[in-house]
This record gives sequence, C-alpha cells and structure tokens, in this order.
Amino acid sequence: MSLQLPRKHNATDTTIFTVMSTLAQQYNAINLSQGFPDFPIDTKLSNLLHEASLNGLNQYAPMAGLPILREAIAQDFSKRYSITLNPDTEITITPGATYAIYTAFSAILSPGDEVVVLEPAYDSYIPNIEMNGAKAIPVKLLPKTFAPDWEKIKASINSRTKAIIINTPHNPTGTIWQQEDWNQLAELLRNTDIFILSDEVYEQLVFDKQQHCSVLQQPELRERSFVLYSFGKAFHNTGWKIGYCIAPPTLSQAFRRLHQFLSFSVNTPAQYALAQYLSHTERESPTELLQNKRNYFIELMQQTPFQLLQPSQGSYFQLVSYAGMSDASDIDFARLLTEKYGVATIPISAFYSDKHDDKILRFCFAKKEETLTKAVERLKDIEPESF
Ligand SMILES: Cc1ncc(COP(=O)(O)O)c(C=O)c1O
Repeated sequence: MSLQLPRKHNATDTTIFTVMSTLAQQYNAINLSQGFPDFPIDTKLSNLLHEASLNGLNQYAPMAGLPILREAIAQDFSKRYSITLNPDTEITITPGATYAIYTAFSAILSPGDEVVVLEPAYDSYIPNIEMNGAKAIPVKLLPKTFAPDWEKIKASINSRTKAIIINTPHNPTGTIWQQEDWNQLAELLRNTDIFILSDEVYEQLVFDKQQHCSVLQQPELRERSFVLYSFGKAFHNTGWKIGYCIAPPTLSQAFRRLHQFLSFSVNTPAQYALAQYLSHTERESPTELLQNKRNYFIELMQQTPFQLLQPSQGSYFQLVSYAGMSDASDIDFARLLTEKYGVATIPISAFYSDKHDDKILRFCFAKKEETLTKAVERLKDIEPESF
C-alpha cells in the first residue's frame, strides 16, 4: 500500500506559535510569544455562558448564527461606527476569524488565481490561499514604518489577481490603516474585479485616541469586501473561537454556501452569552486596558538593552529590535532567549514567506502586569555576548 497525502500548502508543518509555546513550556519560560491574554475574562461573560447551558441552549444554532447575536453585532456597529448592517443578510457567525478567512478565500478562489498579501503577514493567510489552489503574491511593507508600498502593490496586480488581504490593526507590526490608505487602495482597485479580505480582528484595540478605520466605512470598497472579526480579541476569550464575517448579501450568500457544509453552525451557548454581553452588559473598555499594558511594557523595556520600534498603534503586539546586541538570526535569538533567559517571543522572519530577517522580535503585551514585570526582570540581565 502506498498512501498518498498531498501537500495542500507550502508552509511549515508546525507553526512558529506552536514551536515557541512548546519551547516556553519546556523551559518554563514566560510566554510573550503567542497572542493570547493570561488575565481572566469578565466573570459576567463566564456567568452568561453557564446560564445559557443551564437554560437548555445546548443544541445546534441556525446556520448563519443566533439571530440575537447577529442583531447585537448590528447594533454595536451602528453605535460605535455609525455603520448600518443587515443582520439577516450581511453577518455570519463563524468558529473564529481564521476559519472565516479560509471560507472567504474558498468562496472566491479558483486554481490559477493570485492573491496579494502584504508582508509581514499573519501566518495563516498564505497557507489558506494555497489550500484553495491559488497562489499568494507577497509584497513587503516598507522598512521601518511598515506602511504599504503602493508602487510595489500596483506592480503585483495583473489579470490573475483575484483578491488582496488587508489587516488593520496589524499583526505583527501594530500599525493601523488611515483613511488615506483606503483611498489609495480604492484608486488601485477601481475598474477591477478584485475582492478584498479585511482582517479587522483587533478593531477594538486602537490606541492613543486614534480611530479604527474600517473597509466598511469605504462605500466604494465595501461592496467587494469580506470583513473578518474575532470576539476572542475583543473580550480576551481567544479559546472560545467565535468570530464573524461581514459582507454584502451576495458575498455573504457565497460564504454561507460553503459554511453550511464546513462547520454548519457555531457553539450555541457561547453565541447566547456573547449576544447578552454585547447588548446588555456594562463592560470595561478593552482599548484602555490594552493601551495601559502597552505603555507599561514600553516603559519597562527601557531598562533592557533592546531597542523598541515605533510604539504599537493597535493590536496585542510590540516589535523590538536586538540588532545592536547580536548577529544571530532571529529564530536562533528567540530560541536562546527562551532557553537561557526564560522569555518566549516570536521572530519576525516567521511572518515573511522569504524568511526576511531584520533582527526583530514580536512581544505580546496582552498579559498581567506581573507577567510583564517578571519577563522584563529577566531581559534586564541579558549579556549580549551570550548569543
Ligand atoms: C491578524 C489575525 N487574524 C486572525 C486571528 C485569528 O483569530 P481567531 O482566533 O478568531 O481565529 C489572529 C489571531 O492571532 C490574528 O492575529
């Protein structure tokens, strides 16, 4: 017997997040690598989940999601962004944003199609494109500022280009798109049939009184866009894996055509809890909470030999350079930092398809103050010659 297992994508078999989290466990290191909070979620949300299950909400939800949750999302977007959404035809609840990205790609891609991906990029994008038989066209963001390189983006577009994927606030760089960026994209895509996937999972985490600027606020672009969100990032419950896709009715229909056979529906008690929490509960602002953590982390890092890049404008992440400390590759440096000093981070080369290495690490600051303090205590003791 010779069982054939096709390689559905060209990426690594084990993601860097799994590698670094496993290493962190092995060396009992403080894990600032993977993007998940180590602080508890609001007990009101936990209680609502409990209540849902006790009240018998334990069977399949409707395919597009619980109506009360879709309604609550529509009201939330109306309140926070003055965006009008039809909960029946434009919102689909999904088991997380990663699934929604895969499904949106699946709804539009055929073999031979190309998708423009701005790098560094969240590591699921390119494998998701390849698993759908299409080809990713990576275009690097500009050095230092990580702003879009419009000349290169323009040059990457041709008759095979089916989509471009945007991520704001951005993982891993913590940059955000401004209105001007969307204007540039609108100009580029005018008179084309190119779709947009806009990954806005960190939309509630935009700092320093800046506003999140969504593709949903761009009338010219909205009609060609699938916009992906994750409750995990807004309410600190990444393990619940509940997200949603907002798209115009015809695009949502194409998305649901696949979703009904991929997952069909999503965890009912969690949907109920999120609906009640969104509509009725006084909540702490995740923006302020995470901004304080970013500030705390930046302040502490001044005591270490690392060099911070521009302060994160949004997301869970701060980039930090070790260029003045060592010539080691970022992967080797991150490994040694975990093994010798007990702090796990993510090397930025993992976010580039060509493994581009600028000696930058990504730190997740979505952690308790005591975790950040402990990590920096260890980083202060670093002897650069040990790398
Ligand atoms: C940019 C980006 N998109 C999507 C996701 C995944 O969201 P979910 O956990 O809801 O699948 C993450 C998680 O780290 C992310 O950083």
